[in-house]
Amino acid sequence: MEKMIMGSIFLPMLFMQRFMAALAMSQPNFTADQFALLEFKAHITSDPLNIMSSNWTSATSICNWVGVSCGALHRRVTTLDLPNMNLTGSLPPQLGNLSFLVDLNLSGNNFHGHLPLEFGKLQRLRVMDLGNNFLYGSILDDIWLLSKLEIFKVGSNNQRTGTISRNIGEIPQEIGNLHNLEEVAAGNASLSGPILSNIFNISSLRWIYLYTNSLSGTLPIDLCYHLPNLELLSLYENQLQSSIPSSIGRCKKLQNLLLGTNKFTGYIPRSIGNLTELSRINLRENNLEGETPEEIGNLPLRFLNMRYNFLNGSIPPMIFNISTLEVIILGRNNLSGHLPSTIGLWLPKLTALKLYQNKLSGNFPNSLSNSSLLTILSLNENLFYGPFPNSLGHLRFLERLRLRNNMFHEYSTLERSFLSSLLSCNLPSTIGDLKDLTYLSLAENALEGNIPQSFDGLVSLEFLDLSNNILSGVIPKSLEGLSYLKFFNVSFNRLEGEIPCRGSFRNFFAQSFIRNTALCDLPRFQVPPWSFGSVYNGALLGGMSVAIKVFNMQVKGVLQSFNTECEVLRSCCHRNLVKIISTCCNEDFKALVLEFMPNGALEKWLYSDTCCLNILQRLDIVIDVAFALEYLHHGQSVSIIHCDLKPSNVLLDEDMVAHVGDFGLAKLLGKGASVMQTMQIATIGYRLHFL
Ligand SMILES: *[C@@H]1O[C@H](CO)[C@@H](O)[C@H](O)[C@H]1NC(C)=O
Ligand SMILES: *[C@@H]1O[C@H](CO)[C@@H](O)[C@H](O)[C@H]1NC(C)=O
Ligand SMILES: *[C@@H]1O[C@H](CO)[C@@H](O)[C@H](O)[C@H]1NC(C)=O
Ligand SMILES: *[C@@H]1O[C@H](CO)[C@@H](O)[C@H](O)[C@H]1NC(C)=O
Ligand SMILES: *[C@@H]1O[C@H](CO)[C@@H](O)[C@H](O)[C@H]1NC(C)=O
Ligand SMILES: *[C@@H]1O[C@H](CO)[C@@H](O)[C@H](O)[C@H]1NC(C)=O
Ligand SMILES: *[C@@H]1O[C@H](CO)[C@@H](O)[C@H](O)[C@H]1NC(C)=O
Ligand SMILES: *[C@@H]1O[C@H](CO)[C@@H](O)[C@H](O)[C@H]1NC(C)=O
Ligand SMILES: *[C@@H]1O[C@H](CO)[C@@H](O)[C@H](O)[C@H]1NC(C)=O
Ligand SMILES: *[C@@H]1O[C@H](CO)[C@@H](O)[C@H](O)[C@H]1NC(C)=O
Ligand SMILES: *[C@@H]1O[C@H](CO)[C@@H](O)[C@H](O)[C@H]1NC(C)=O
Ligand SMILES: *[C@@H]1O[C@H](CO)[C@@H](O)[C@H](O)[C@H]1NC(C)=O
Repeated sequence: MEKMIMGSIFLPMLFMQRFMAALAMSQPNFTADQFALLEFKAHITSDPLNIMSSNWTSATSICNWVGVSCGALHRRVTTLDLPNMNLTGSLPPQLGNLSFLVDLNLSGNNFHGHLPLEFGKLQRLRVMDLGNNFLYGSILDDIWLLSKLEIFKVGSNNQRTGTISRNIGEIPQEIGNLHNLEEVAAGNASLSGPILSNIFNISSLRWIYLYTNSLSGTLPIDLCYHLPNLELLSLYENQLQSSIPSSIGRCKKLQNLLLGTNKFTGYIPRSIGNLTELSRINLRENNLEGETPEEIGNLPLRFLNMRYNFLNGSIPPMIFNISTLEVIILGRNNLSGHLPSTIGLWLPKLTALKLYQNKLSGNFPNSLSNSSLLTILSLNENLFYGPFPNSLGHLRFLERLRLRNNMFHEYSTLERSFLSSLLSCNLPSTIGDLKDLTYLSLAENALEGNIPQSFDGLVSLEFLDLSNNILSGVIPKSLEGLSYLKFFNVSFNRLEGEIPCRGSFRNFFAQSFIRNTALCDLPRFQVPPWSFGSVYNGALLGGMSVAIKVFNMQVKGVLQSFNTECEVLRSCCHRNLVKIISTCCNEDFKALVLEFMPNGALEKWLYSDTCCLNILQRLDIVIDVAFALEYLHHGQSVSIIHCDLKPSNVLLDEDMVAHVGDFGLAKLLGKGASVMQTMQIATIGYRLHFL
């Protein structure tokens, strides 16, 4: 009995004694923790959010400092978490003294400098996240000492300053000894050298991120023999060669296989079909060849990108039965064959289908309109033929439609069924259905008929390419209302009539309209041909249109002409002279940047069938020219004689005001020159043709 009572008193006392002893023992190390954190604070050079400056003070215990937590019993620092705090500074070696640290997260700051070797002392560490900083140096040669490490993240550490060339460098061999590692994230960290196969021996690994580095070498053929838990393998944007290991089918839990933009060769292994959890495949931009394994059709894919390889044969129809698919990108391969006519029926979640630049043929599968979430459809540069896919009008979220360079025809079908029925006023409920369409390319088909008036309902349209078809009729004036239109091309068709001139059409140049049957008004878009080089249209950054007159340096006398023109334009400024904006002048390139005259040269207006001037306009032009000459002759200290005045050198601006241009042959007379002399030089040039 006594013993028992004794015991019950004694036990807590014993506990207390041990506790005190433990506290006493940990005391010096507590101080070491404090010292390490103060040292860390001292290495912070910028703390704009005042995270540490106001909080990390000696007034409170380090265990109350923001971002720090300590063990309940031993009061040693176990966590140092200050992610995304906009801290700038370096990491002092003293941090290696936080020997009870379990969780270190300093990601998303501006830490720079070396990773201290002393981090190898953090033997209780489970989580190290230093991603998104500016650290460099070899990753912890002593990393293998961190045997408890589960998460190791150093991704997105790039020297943006460029002063130090060595970055994170190479991953040490010893990483293979980390038997608890579940995640290694070192993407975008300037890693180079051959990829270490040791890493693939860590059977605890679930996520491997090594994308966007300069890793070379090959993947071991037995890659997946020791990785039963792997869920993500992200190696895209490196320089890996070899084929895709056939053992890939053994990584049974793989969900993401991202090997794009490398130099992988050979066939896609059929065992990929054993990956029953795979949802993302990115193999784009490699040198893979052969046919797409049918087995891919068994996978629960959401994302499939294999563009830009040498794949051939037809696309296994089963792929279009994967109802979870959201994105299919197989463009730029050598695929042939037809698409299944039921393609859209089983793809309810599809948002992007890009099969461009292949050899796919057949009628367009109208069932695609059942993939009603589709926003991007790129089938350009294939061999699709037949009537225009009028069912596309049902795709009300469509933003980009690229069908360029196929063999669609029967534009009338397009007009009747696709857009006009959809957008015409008779069907108000569907008018807005393609209101999100920003990009429409139907170029290089065999489309006939008119451009439907109803195109004016495509209110978001920025890009419209109808070039290289057999379209006839006029360009609907109502297209002037497409206020976002930035690109318009109807060249190489059989269009006629007037070109719309308001709204976005103010910004289009002649190239948009060339090679049509009888489009009037073309001169409006062209700067006239010229007697010493070429004239180009251009736009300055601010949007201002300019004419750029480039002198052909091969032509004799061109230098003289350039100098004369510069001199005249420099000294003159008059409403009826073409205004100079800038010059560009070096040894073998000379150009003048001039005010752009949207209505072109007078010559076109005098001698073309489609454009004509009434008597008042003619009179105004004569008066304008007379004002210009009056100014040149008498308006300043030096008289200038144009010597080459003719309708092709009289340019008309937007309001049909005439401006005299081209001073390449002009003569400059000193003050003393007589009126008589002026008359003589001038005569030949002054034959005005237009009254
Ligand atoms: C105190 O820290 C030192 C080195 O930092 C270590 O060697 C020692 O074992 C620690 N003592 C205790 C009681 O944790
Ligand atoms: C530091 O921040 C922590 C957590 O936000 C807070 O509990 C503590 O009171 C702060 N200490 C000081 C001295 O501001
Ligand atoms: C580190 O903190 C950031 C921001 O809170 C978080 O997103 C990230 O997952 C953390 N790292 C780890 C390994 O938990
Ligand atoms: C972080 O710092 C940068 C400059 O160092 C500053 O431009 C930015 O606004 C800061 N962000 C926050 C949230 O304070
Ligand atoms: C902590 O680390 C530094 C540098 O790694 C070392 O010089 C120092 O002796 C260590 N111990 C204490 C108690 O600060
Ligand atoms: C790569 O790292 C740099 C610097 O750390 C960062 O600015 C950039 O966004 C990262 N790029 C990617 C694709 O993660
Ligand atoms: C991976 O582990 C296996 C067996 O555990 C061993 O035979 C092989 O050499 C290891 N590979 C590497 C690269 O360490
Ligand atoms: C894939 O699975 C099939 C049957 O389930 C099996 O016969 C084959 O060996 C597996 N292939 C690989 C590479 O695991
Ligand atoms: C596909 O390409 C492979 C080699 O890359 C070739 O052997 C095969 O005959 C091609 N198949 C077809 C249908 O063109
Ligand atoms: C796709 O699924 C439908 C419905 O389950 C089925 O009728 C059709 O045969 C399947 N197609 C292929 C190529 O397996
Ligand atoms: C594409 O396939 C054709 C045969 O259909 C072949 O002649 C051609 O060489 C292939 N092109 C490439 C780049 O593989
Ligand atoms: C496919 O779309 C058409 C027209 O919208 C519709 O009549 C049909 O019921 C749809 N089929 C399926 C399987 O959703």
